[in-house]
Amino acid sequence: ASIVAVVGATGAVGEEMVQVLHDRKFPLSKLVLLASERSAGKKIQTAFGEMEVELFSVEAAQACDFVLMAVSGDFSKEFSPQIIANGKTVVIDNSSAFRYDEDIPLVVPEVNPAAMRGKLLIANPNCTTAIAAMALWPLHQKFTLRKVIMSTYQAASGAGAAGMIELEAGTRKGLNNEPVVNEVFAHPLPFNVIPHIDAFQSNGYTKEEMKVVWETQKIFGSKDIACSCTCVRIPTKRAHSEAITIETVEDITAEQAMEVLRNAPGVEVVDNPAEKLYPMPMTATRKYDVEVGRIRPSLVFQPKGLDLFVCGDQLLRGAALNAVLIAEAKLA
Ligand code: HSE
Repeated sequence: ASIVAVVGATGAVGEEMVQVLHDRKFPLSKLVLLASERSAGKKIQTAFGEMEVELFSVEAAQACDFVLMAVSGDFSKEFSPQIIANGKTVVIDNSSAFRYDEDIPLVVPEVNPAAMRGKLLIANPNCTTAIAAMALWPLHQKFTLRKVIMSTYQAASGAGAAGMIELEAGTRKGLNNEPVVNEVFAHPLPFNVIPHIDAFQSNGYTKEEMKVVWETQKIFGSKDIACSCTCVRIPTKRAHSEAITIETVEDITAEQAMEVLRNAPGVEVVDNPAEKLYPMPMTATRKYDVEVGRIRPSLVFQPKGLDLFVCGDQLLRGAALNAVLIAEAKLA
């Protein structure tokens, strides 16, 4: 059994990491919750009962076998390399600090587990990318993706606990005709959609959109997949949705795609339009599996393309579950 630390356990992702470790019965000899001065000393309710959050130090982290980082990129950038300098502690980082470093693996365990062999610092992907990868990887293996065109509908949880609180409080205010304050989001989110997540880049795309492009290519190990994305924040609480169009090298039918996806790990095909069954944040929330549906030949690319709709829990598959699965794969 292992000693595991969750750094940032009071945040939305950290909280889910603790929950997933509990629910999956991760072989723990000890669980430590670490945080910066702001949260150290707090007592929090967890699936393991009440626990005290301890002050983060490199030494405290180095006493662990696994460190799950659910903190800002700046914090991780400074401390993760110091932690792994002991040559034994495995750090799984949920920030974007190391995702694009050539020698740091970026891992979705169902897709590229071999990339983490012999590595102590492993990057967890952006939530949007991890969710899409679950549906796209099985299709890529069988039909080879040439193009991926994606539009997202991202929940407030992507901006952490503060985002969910801002949405809930703002919705109440909106209903009472009171002014809605926005600090987390670029504009008030209640009763709105915002086509702006993270900073705009010089090419007109946002960083969130470029993460999908860079990370899909890195995880799939292929720069040949042309990818573009429009990322939109919508007033749902958790679980991101994605409308995806693919062009494939091989011919593909909806039936073939469904067959492949039904047999893919971490995927639940939810696709029965006659019964009004398709993926939705409402049904994907708190599920480990990503829901995939609305699978149909693309009017533009058929017979070499499909349109599909994917929903996945941003805090689970998009973050906490993926990180714990990486730790489990390291143990295997
Ligand atoms: N950047 C994502 C979002 C969070 O804002 O929805 C997951 O990385």
